[in-house]
Amino acid sequence: MKRRRETSPKDWVERAKKKAAIKAVSHIRDGYVVGLGSGTTVAYAVEHIGRRVRREGIKVTCIPTSYQIGILAAQNGIPITTLYEHPKPDLAIDGADQIDGGLNMIKGGGGALTMEKIVDSSAKRVIIVVDESKLTDGLGRGQPVPIEVLPFALPTVLKAIRSMGGSGEVRMGRGKVGPVITDNGNIIVDADFGVIKSPKELEEELNNTPGVVENGLFIQLVTIAYVGTKRSDVIKLKTQKKG
Ligand code: 5RP
Repeated sequence: MKRRRETSPKDWVERAKKKAAIKAVSHIRDGYVVGLGSGTTVAYAVEHIGRRVRREGIKVTCIPTSYQIGILAAQNGIPITTLYEHPKPDLAIDGADQIDGGLNMIKGGGGALTMEKIVDSSAKRVIIVVDESKLTDGLGRGQPVPIEVLPFALPTVLKAIRSMGGSGEVRMGRGKVGPVITDNGNIIVDADFGVIKSPKELEEELNNTPGVVENGLFIQLVTIAYVGTKRSDVIKLKTQKKG
């Protein structure tokens, strides 16, 4: 008797991420400048953009938000540009660690939140790609907010996080001793606030703290989110924002 291959819980997640990424890439037209977020789901999008460039001969240039995605874009034959040349990319494709019904997000699981927020904020449209495990009805539930912090300011920022009702932990490296150092040379603090009642206010309060470079609350930036599901379909969620 033929044995059926066991599917691990990871299998559907990878399939869901890939399907969502492919949907996002279908929005790209010849000549587009595309901002690229970071993480494993965006990596699927990059590979698919590369495929389209090779098969369809379309011209796409990208603005990556990390070494991870910059290297992958180069490997996939996608030319890289900057915000100097293209301050308003046609589209940004990005992932998320958590996303709610209003398409507000927590990001920064990959430590690339600062460049991601810059690119997402400047793009004409922002398309998010996630699997359904990222959906939440309470931003912050079981999900800390990553905060990029200037190393000099670490003690004062940790104190400020406590005064806002949170508790922060320095993210430690794997495969390297000591803290994770971002592509910008800073530290990441993961701050647990529980379910966040007013994400916009918390985003502003965190960014008003001296030494905070940026935080992972992304509010009212998203145009469309593609959510890959366990059932294998992709759900499209939309806001009124940006086209
Ligand atoms: C990186 C991010 C990523 O978009 C987020 O962590 C999701 O990553 P993945 O697609 O690997 O789950 O914010 O800073």
